[in-house]
Amino acid sequence: MSNSESSRFTTLSVPPADEAFAVNGAYLADTSPDKVNLGIGVYRTDEGRPWPLRVVERAENQLHEEHDAARHEYLAIRGDVEFLDLARDLVFASAGDKEGSDDRIASVQTVSGTGANRLGADFLAQHLRPGRVWIPEPTWSNHHAIWTFAGVARGTYPYYDVAGKCFDWVRTAQTLNEQASPGDVVVLHACAHNPTGADPSKEQWEKFAALCQAKGLIPFFDLAYQGFASGSVEEDSWAIRHFFHYQPQLEFFVAQSFSKNFGLYGQRAGALHVVTSSAGLSTGVSQAVLANLCSLVRGEYSMAPRRGSEIVKTVLRSPDMRRQWHEDLQLMSGRIKAMRQALYDRLVALQTPGTWEHILSQIGMFSYTGLSENQVFAITQRHHVYLLKSGRISISGLNESNVDYVARAIDDVVRTVI
Ligand SMILES: Cc1ncc(COP(=O)(O)O)c(C=O)c1O
Repeated sequence: MSNSESSRFTTLSVPPADEAFAVNGAYLADTSPDKVNLGIGVYRTDEGRPWPLRVVERAENQLHEEHDAARHEYLAIRGDVEFLDLARDLVFASAGDKEGSDDRIASVQTVSGTGANRLGADFLAQHLRPGRVWIPEPTWSNHHAIWTFAGVARGTYPYYDVAGKCFDWVRTAQTLNEQASPGDVVVLHACAHNPTGADPSKEQWEKFAALCQAKGLIPFFDLAYQGFASGSVEEDSWAIRHFFHYQPQLEFFVAQSFSKNFGLYGQRAGALHVVTSSAGLSTGVSQAVLANLCSLVRGEYSMAPRRGSEIVKTVLRSPDMRRQWHEDLQLMSGRIKAMRQALYDRLVALQTPGTWEHILSQIGMFSYTGLSENQVFAITQRHHVYLLKSGRISISGLNESNVDYVARAIDDVVRTVI
């Protein structure tokens, strides 16, 4: 079919580029000395540099010294079992309630959080065939791609109350109650909702669990920022433990990423945990889920990469390194909180029109500024400040040297552009 004058690929349309990576590319290509990158969701130091966590460097040194001859061997298809146990307990076991927590949970190692979302979506599409997946609007845009590629019809629920600048429980509940059907999946950000930085309260999570139970929905937690929202890994997984202990029991999914909380972005360390009902324990339901996940993993990528999970395992199994990790997390989340305050203070001092308290009340890496698409376009054109067109900024791109400049740039576009 293909000859020198035609190609079998000429019918291909070009999909839109991923916005966060496109914005990052535009930032890199910009030669202005003033440019500021608030687009991509990665941690940066006060000097605007990437930061290998101190505890990660310590673990890397330890692994290097161990000089294990098997360090480049294949992992098992399921992944590294010790890593998986530690990863699971980080989410499900809080002080005092560990006992019995593992029998209901089937865990496999994944290609970070994205891979965990995708594997879970593929598993559901193949084995439970949900009529629809309910995705928050707005959300991390990759959720749409992942569920589309998995072949599951999508619906959205109105997550964000634009006027109140908070999670919209009333409209979320109304939409799901009226439109969702038993067996549908509902995607939930476990903490530090991307892009809004607005999370449900504990009371709203309790209502959410009850709604899922009453409607027969399958909750699918995306956990990409554990420790980044509050600085406490336990606090940030509260919602998941609440669902885990809910009676009558819920069956649900957790896609866990170590990209942000260990700063292991390119290492692709993560896990998928599938929580089954204890009613299925005697018939081996959890093992059947695990075997099916492994079969999908084998057909997709054989097994996850091992370097990142070795680092996470080395840290989590040592009480001393775990303590140091918590300190590193506090340092990152503390700097982000300080930058929220700094931006807020400057906007208030400039008397920038509008209210800016939401910058302080939102949590995690991002703030949903409320800038319009036109204002985003203008701030990039005029001031070389890069952010997503939804108005989302990554607070970690702010530092003592650029926060004044960014506040003035926001002030300018808010006053002159609608
Ligand atoms: C909400 C959310 N889920 C999942 C991910 C996946 O990240 P990774 O694949 O790097 O673990 C991200 C990353 O930005 C995210 O924001």
